[in-house]
Amino acid sequence: MSTAAFTEDLVAKSYDRTLLRRLLTYLRPYQAAVAVSFLLIVVMAGLDLVGPYLTKVAIDRYITKGDAPGLARVAALYLLTLLGAFAVRYGQVYILQMTGQKVMLDMRRQIFGHLQRLHVGFFDRNPVGRLMTRVTTDVDAVNELFTSGVVTVFGDLFTLLGIMGVMTAMNPKLALVTFSVIPFFFVITNWFRQGSRQSFREVRKWVARINAFLQENLTGMSVVQLFRREGRNRDAFAAINRAHADANVSQIFYYAVFYPAIDLLAAVAVAMILLYGGARVLAGTLTLGALVAFVQYSERFWRPISDLSEKFNILQAAMASSERIFTLLDSPAEVVSPPRPALLAQVRGRVAFEDVSFAYVPSQWVLRDVDFTVEAGRSVALVGATGAGKTTIISLLARFYDVQAGRVSLDGIDVKDLDPAQLRSSLALVLQDVHLFSGTIASNIRLGSPIPDEKVREAARAVHAHRFIEALPEGYQTEVRERGATLSVGQKQLLSFARALAHDPRVLILDEATSSVDTETEALIQDALKVLLRGRTAIVIAHRLSTIQNVDEILVMHKGRIRERGTHQQLLAQRGIYWRLYQLQYKDQEVLAGGEAELPA
Ligand SMILES: Nc1ncnc2c1ncn2[C@@H]1O[C@H](COP(=O)(O)OP(=O)(O)OP(=O)(O)O)[C@@H](O)[C@H]1O
Ligand SMILES: [Mg+2]
Repeated sequence: MSTAAFTEDLVAKSYDRTLLRRLLTYLRPYQAAVAVSFLLIVVMAGLDLVGPYLTKVAIDRYITKGDAPGLARVAALYLLTLLGAFAVRYGQVYILQMTGQKVMLDMRRQIFGHLQRLHVGFFDRNPVGRLMTRVTTDVDAVNELFTSGVVTVFGDLFTLLGIMGVMTAMNPKLALVTFSVIPFFFVITNWFRQGSRQSFREVRKWVARINAFLQENLTGMSVVQLFRREGRNRDAFAAINRAHADANVSQIFYYAVFYPAIDLLAAVAVAMILLYGGARVLAGTLTLGALVAFVQYSERFWRPISDLSEKFNILQAAMASSERIFTLLDSPAEVVSPPRPALLAQVRGRVAFEDVSFAYVPSQWVLRDVDFTVEAGRSVALVGATGAGKTTIISLLARFYDVQAGRVSLDGIDVKDLDPAQLRSSLALVLQDVHLFSGTIASNIRLGSPIPDEKVREAARAVHAHRFIEALPEGYQTEVRERGATLSVGQKQLLSFARALAHDPRVLILDEATSSVDTETEALIQDALKVLLRGRTAIVIAHRLSTIQNVDEILVMHKGRIRERGTHQQLLAQRGIYWRLYQLQYKDQEVLAGGEAELPA
């Protein structure tokens, strides 16, 4: 082995040890249970040793002497140890598995809790599928340590040492004869461990690929069928599926050779015991009972060692999974609550951006020197082309991200100094795409806040959502299925208005809500908007300029900067970007999306 590979191995080992130590911390709350379980393991190992010894006693002391009552006593004792072993094993398995379940429970809770604390930017970089794997598959892999009995393998080691001890005590020479096959055993085990570890990893890799492929193509089924990709997908899946099967076959090969080989070695050991021990019995230097006990012990001897090598793979997988889990748990939440947050006694709703510059990716500026103020109760509209940075502005206000330069404040206090909970509960965001959760229509308006039924209806009525909700099969109690796939886009929009109004926020933020509805619904939404905006600070992002003619100030964004500002009339009079947008939208009475308008650079 080269030194480089060797040091790498050492690093891996000590690394595994840190992982293991951290995994052990999850057992700390269940110390008592673990202690009992380990005690039972030792007891079990002890009981396992008793059987063959009793056989020896039965043969040597009673059978060969013709002592029937004595034999019955030994038989009874044997039965008793069997029952005892049963009870101990039951208790041990039960306690250990229970502990495993509790550890999984704690781990999943911890991971989910951490995920909820992480900043929005983290989710830009980490695909949902991968994060879900952390909470599901990876935790399961750690639990395999308990269910597959990797932990009890340590108990098997006791059995092993016990057997070696008893054998040596009974007859050192015969014990040596038995142990002489051990080197061969190590050779086979090593071969198996290396080969199967490799194939085990292959299998895991292909399972992950199958999952990813299915996830992507099942969720995108309509696109798959529309663009007639079925044939190509079938081939792609067939290839992954085949590779997965091949990896499994290669793993099966190692198992198929390993266990018969171990059996063969065990048989050779028994043959040698019979050959050597039999001769001793004939010579009168060994009792028949001892010979039988030796044969029995040697049969129990191999089980723990072969288990150990099989469980090694599971241990490896658990280590890899725990490493991924810990990496996730260690990813810091970049947007954090200040240690002593400023508390606003009453939120008035004055929003200010002071020379704010911001980039999602370092040095690729999305906003530059953005500076504006919305006095409490006033309204501002943001207009501008697609990608101008409008949504980014409201993400900064909600503190989904932290600004690199400048200051965003609510009622004069930097949002970084506020308790994020207070900040966000003062805002209501109606986002570009409405996210609905599984549950009823009513629960989607409430979103967990204790809002009475009457207020839910009132809010829905005020934004004209009431009518279509009442028309649903079960009204407000209708279940929303598959993230609202059964509702139209306009209906979801109205629903999200009702949601915002029911929460009665100080600051209302609306991100382009009116792009995909018919004229009648648009009129409803226009009307709903008036209700929504009344008496609140409002920031409205709109592509349709008709939506925003009544706001107090319009900010025209272009490439991350505010290029023009003023009222509708003032901006028209300026004959700048806004004027051109307006011309584009209203020529031929045709309503175009503002994002498609061509703008001077
Ligand atoms: N999470 C993100 N990570 C990296 N870049 C982003 C992210 N979100 C947006 N951007 C980039 O920031 C710029 C501004 O995006 P933003 O969503 O603010 O535009 P917008 O004005 O809301 O556009 P639209 O009118 O299409 O909604 C775009 O160039 C976009 O590519
Ligand atoms: Mg946007």
